[in-house]
Amino acid sequence: MNDQILAKAAAFAGTSCYVFDLDMLKERITYLRTHLPEDVALCYAVKANPFLAGALDPVVDRLEICSPGELAICNRLHCTSGNYVISGVYKTPEVMHDQFYRSGNEIYTVESLAQYERLKEIALSAEKPMRLLIRLTSGNQFGLAKHDLEAVLVDAMQEPLLHVLGLQFFSGTQKTSIKRLKKELSELDAYLAELKERFGYEAEELEYGAGLPVSYFQRDAYDEDAHLAGVSEALNAMTFAGKITLELGRAIAASCGTYLTKVVDEKTIDGQKFAITDGGIHQLTYYGQFMAMKHPYVHLLTPHHGAQEEEWTIFGSLCTINDILIKRIPFAGLRTGDILAFERAGAYCVTEGIALFLSIDLPAVVLYENGALTLARNNTPTDGLNTPGDAPLTIASETR
Ligand SMILES: Cc1ncc(COP(=O)(O)O)c(C=O)c1O
Repeated sequence: MNDQILAKAAAFAGTSCYVFDLDMLKERITYLRTHLPEDVALCYAVKANPFLAGALDPVVDRLEICSPGELAICNRLHCTSGNYVISGVYKTPEVMHDQFYRSGNEIYTVESLAQYERLKEIALSAEKPMRLLIRLTSGNQFGLAKHDLEAVLVDAMQEPLLHVLGLQFFSGTQKTSIKRLKKELSELDAYLAELKERFGYEAEELEYGAGLPVSYFQRDAYDEDAHLAGVSEALNAMTFAGKITLELGRAIAASCGTYLTKVVDEKTIDGQKFAITDGGIHQLTYYGQFMAMKHPYVHLLTPHHGAQEEEWTIFGSLCTINDILIKRIPFAGLRTGDILAFERAGAYCVTEGIALFLSIDLPAVVLYENGALTLARNNTPTDGLNTPGDAPLTIASETR
C-alpha cells in the first residue's frame, strides 16, 4: 500500500481514519511462520484489532476471544468456531452457555474455580464434550494459582466430557528480553513435566502469550529476525513434546495499519510551532504513555519538496494538555490541510482509545486488499452514546 492509496483512502473516508492493509497482514503471518519453528501454531488475540479477524481466520490456527462483543464479531464474520479460544477473567453466562450450546467445538480457558464449575455444569447439562485450557497465573488477577490449577486438573481428569488440552500462560506485552522469555519457557517446561509426574497428566498443548514486541519508535528499532531466532531457540530447547501455540496481538496486527489525521490548525507560541490535528491520543495508542516523548514512524502524505524543515509539536483536538501526538519533530513545509500518516497503527489503536471523550466521532476504518479499498466502518458519531436516550427507561426509585 503506497501513499497514493492512502491519499485515496483519506479522500474516500475522511480524516481521521484507519487504513488496514490485509495483503500486508497476510504477508506478516508468512513472515512469522518462516521465522518460528515449523510446528508452532499461531493464535490471534482479537482484542488487538477485531477488524482483522475475518482476514486472519483462514491463515492463523486460532482466534483468542475475550468478550461477548469479540465473540459476536467473530460469529458475524463467520470465523471458524472450532478455532476459538474463549478466554477472559470474566466470561459472561452468554459467552459460556449460549456459545457452547450454539456450537460447542471452541476451547474455553479456565481462569478460576467458579469459572471451572460453571463450565463443567454447562458441559454436563449439554451432554457434550468440552475442550479446556487451564490458565496458569503470572501473579496477577488472571488465571489460577498452581494449587487451584491442580485441583481443577484432578477433577477434570475424572470427568469424561471434559478434555483438558493443556495450559495457557500470558505474562505481558512488549517483552523484549530473550533471557526473560527463556526463563519463563523453561519454568513452564518444568511445570508441565511435574504435572506428568505427580498426576499422570500429559498436556497436549501449551498456549503461550509470547508478548512479541513491536518497534514503534524510531530510536527503539530492534532486530526482529534476531529476536525471533532467540524465541525459536527457547521453544526448541523445551522438552515438552506437545503442540505449542503462540498467542499474539500486536506482533501480528501492528504493521498493517496506518492512522491518517489532518492538520486543521497551526500556531506559534513562545517561538514553538504547534500543529493541531483532527485526531488525537484517543485514536492513536501504541504502548504506554510515553509516545509524545519519542518519534513514531510518521510521514507527510504529500511532502513539500524543497521546503525548509522546522520543528513542530503535533497535537490532537481533545480538551486535555496531554493530547500530544509528537513533540518537536522536523517537517518540511507543514501546513493546515496536510495529512500525517502514522505507521504501525494496526494493533490496539482502534480498540484501546478513550473513544467517548469529547463526543468525537469514531474514525472510519478502511480495508485495503487486492488493490481495492473497502469502507469497513463509516465515520461514526458518538453523541448518541453520550446523550440521554429518546425513550428513557425510568427505574423505580425507592422513596422514604
Ligand atoms: C491473554 C492474552 N493473550 C495475548 C495477548 C496479546 O498480547 P500482545 O499484543 O502483546 O501479543 C493479550 C494482550 O493483552 C492477552 O491478554
